[in-house]
Amino acid sequence: MDTLQSAKNDLQKYGFLNLPADPAIDLLQEIKRLKQEKNAVLLAHYYQVPVIQDLADFVGDSLALSQEAAATDADIIVFAGVHFMAETAKMLNPGKKVLIPDLHAGCSLAESAPYHLFKDFKSRYPDHVVVSYVNSSAELKTLTDICCTSTNAVEIINSIPKNKGIIFAPDRNLGAYLMKVTGREMVLWHGVCQVHEMFSWEKITSVMSEHPGAEFIAHPECQPHILEIADYVGSTSGLLKYVKKSPASTFVIATEPGILYQMQKAAPEKILIPAPAMTNCACNECPFMKLNTVEKLYNCMKYELPEVSLEENVIKEGRKCIDRMLEISAQAGL
Ligand code: 13P
Ligand code: SF4
Repeated sequence: MDTLQSAKNDLQKYGFLNLPADPAIDLLQEIKRLKQEKNAVLLAHYYQVPVIQDLADFVGDSLALSQEAAATDADIIVFAGVHFMAETAKMLNPGKKVLIPDLHAGCSLAESAPYHLFKDFKSRYPDHVVVSYVNSSAELKTLTDICCTSTNAVEIINSIPKNKGIIFAPDRNLGAYLMKVTGREMVLWHGVCQVHEMFSWEKITSVMSEHPGAEFIAHPECQPHILEIADYVGSTSGLLKYVKKSPASTFVIATEPGILYQMQKAAPEKILIPAPAMTNCACNECPFMKLNTVEKLYNCMKYELPEVSLEENVIKEGRKCIDRMLEISAQAGL
């Protein structure tokens, strides 16, 4: 068996093509060349390592990445992000090849709402509208009426008639935040992001007291007691815009620190401090997002593997809530 064939056979085990790259090759130049040769677009989330963000044709938050995926005329979409993001791109482009450098780049939120458990839960509220955060599996999306991201969630909730009950899944922290902001009662699924659960209130308040005048900004996936002390709460793109426009010079930032790269580029004079986690680990880094590496990206583009595949009926049913989200977002000018 040749090396490529055995690497293909191992895909299930490793989640990526475990082939050593030729040390004589300039991987960055090769990735750029492969993009051109294959008419491939490289989409990267803000939580990717800087070198991958720099290689990407487009870097953005979950909403912008799905809008970009919906609009692309590339033949191949290479998704440097996590699996649910690549699945969303696939649902929007069923005829295109969608690649992800590492199939095991999952998401604790998406995993927290398994299809059958959620189906049972939903059956207890037959009249409710189901709103699911995009950080959910393609199967969960087939049970969803409207998808949302943290950029458009308020507009999505406000688009639902007041007399309608709402189930919100899978993020209980984003759900609780939306209940507060929109004043709507919602039935919440109790999923969490393992990264945003780790921030320490005590350590954040201590860092803030060491930096008078600093602003504390947070992603809505953080726990309620963390959001309560935030000067601003928003999605990754919201946080980035806030840092650019705020007159403050120092920010303590409670989200995955990958976003600090674009923040520092946009505002080089500002001091950016990642919010501390409860332990001294690097657990504010998303272990799934960080599975993607330049080597895996190169192999993925060269051999066009691993590919994201979904059953036809999952694409057909799951796509409806994404289309609805994109429509409402466009109407809201997002
Ligand atoms: P954004 O849509 O804000 O980029 O969030 C994605 C995500 O996974 C946050 O953990
Ligand atoms: Fe999922 Fe959290 Fe990682 Fe975002 S940061 S991809 S929500 S585990």
